[in-house]
Amino acid sequence: MIKYRHNYPLDPSDIVRVFESSGIQRPTTDLRRITRMFQNANLVLSAWADRRLVGVCRAVTDFSYCCYLSDLAVEREFQKRGIGRTLIERLRSVIGEEVTLIVVSAPSTVGYYPNVGFEPIQNGYIITRQR
Ligand SMILES: CC(C)(COP(=O)(O)OP(=O)(O)OC[C@H]1O[C@@H](n2cnc3c(N)ncnc32)[C@H](O)[C@@H]1OP(=O)(O)O)[C@@H](O)C(=O)NCCC(=O)NCCS
Repeated sequence: MIKYRHNYPLDPSDIVRVFESSGIQRPTTDLRRITRMFQNANLVLSAWADRRLVGVCRAVTDFSYCCYLSDLAVEREFQKRGIGRTLIERLRSVIGEEVTLIVVSAPSTVGYYPNVGFEPIQNGYIITRQR
């Protein structure tokens, strides 16, 4: 059975393992940057199979108006079992109805987000990080 935790402290090396196994592109060779990413996010949900971290959902929000979902990743062998969907459902329940949830999809998951409640937008803009 999968258990879910809210803002539970995560070991950066577990995060790297989940990111790398999931296929998500994140700066996993820079452990200090991964550590900062999680230290400074204010809403992190995690999925656990016993003591093993198998899924991560990292967001930044004001709990009042907007929430940016930055990273959603599920370890490869645990994918397609509803863990990603449950992480998003839990995120939505924490932020509530006043908050718009925004995600920038990787090309491989463009088809995923409509499955879990997101609508595409035409009016988004971005200034992309340099590295
Ligand atoms: C995207 C990801 C988080 C989905 O997690 P998951 O636990 O496997 O997804 P779920 O089991 O909750 O899937 C929910 C639904 O979406 C479908 N789905 C899963 N991955 C999909 C994909 N890449 N594209 C389209 N649909 C997808 C599932 O089949 C399921 O459909 P159903 O409800 O009709 O059965 C996971 O595949 C992953 O970690 N991918 C690599 C990391 C990544 O690129 N993350 C996004 C960065 S923006």
